Amino acid sequence: MSALTAQQIIDHQRYPIADTDRPERAALIEKIQKDLAKDGCAVVKNFLSETGLRDMLNEAQERKDQAYYSEKKACNVYLGDGDPELSEEHPRNVFLPRTNGFITADLLTEDTAARILYHWEPLTRFLADCLGKKELFIYDDPVSNMIVNLGKPGQQFNWHYDTNEFTITMLLKPAVTGGHFEYVANLRTSEDECYDEVKKVLDGDRSRITRLELNAGDLQFFLGRFSLHQVTENTGDDDRLLLIMSFTEKPGVIGSLYRVKDLYGKVTDAHYENERNRVRADGLLD
Ligand SMILES: [Fe+2]
Repeated sequence: MSALTAQQIIDHQRYPIADTDRPERAALIEKIQKDLAKDGCAVVKNFLSETGLRDMLNEAQERKDQAYYSEKKACNVYLGDGDPELSEEHPRNVFLPRTNGFITADLLTEDTAARILYHWEPLTRFLADCLGKKELFIYDDPVSNMIVNLGKPGQQFNWHYDTNEFTITMLLKPAVTGGHFEYVANLRTSEDECYDEVKKVLDGDRSRITRLELNAGDLQFFLGRFSLHQVTENTGDDDRLLLIMSFTEKPGVIGSLYRVKDLYGKVTDAHYENERNRVRADGLLD
């Protein structure tokens, strides 16, 4: 349980994001927007305060034993099925290890520093301003709106694209060695999968890869729809812990029953209810 306020969880002296009229806030947003425009990635160094990071790390460590590991241990970069019509070497048919676990949102209770910060309106406002969105909302999914990705020694998260436009993460603990976030900016476009370029990366060509230097407490923005990215194998002797916060452009959005079950191993009544409404909205039943 954290005794800190949201403003104490981050380094608000250095990053006064709640004070919307401060020039430091405007300058920070401008810098983030410039970085995002360049290659879809931006980092705010030491965004968390020392005490905020300490509380968040403790919360995650205490819940590590309850982390969920998906049944699927390997994925292609599209996190989808292979295609028997294509050659074995085609990127669609190359399956790489994805062995990270997740501490799900339902385990991060109301009194955790992670949840206090997540529900802090000035953070959502700040993120919306950085991302050029009129408004953002907390993702309403009770299982996955805020999760901790756990990479134990030997675990990794294979090359992939994201289905969501942007990801907000805070590194709580880097791996001692390995566990690097790497990306290839704008590898595909909305019109072209650029399979040849994907193949080069899968074959070990590192010429277009950027490796990010991230420290505990850093805030990262990443636009992962078109930029292939991975977390390399944790080759150290201790865990890597990364907090992931999700936001949506509309209020009240939750994940699909099947996807949430597949990724996180559990669903709630809200997911069944959502599924019934979705089916009705599609006009397929009732
Ligand atoms: Fe991703």
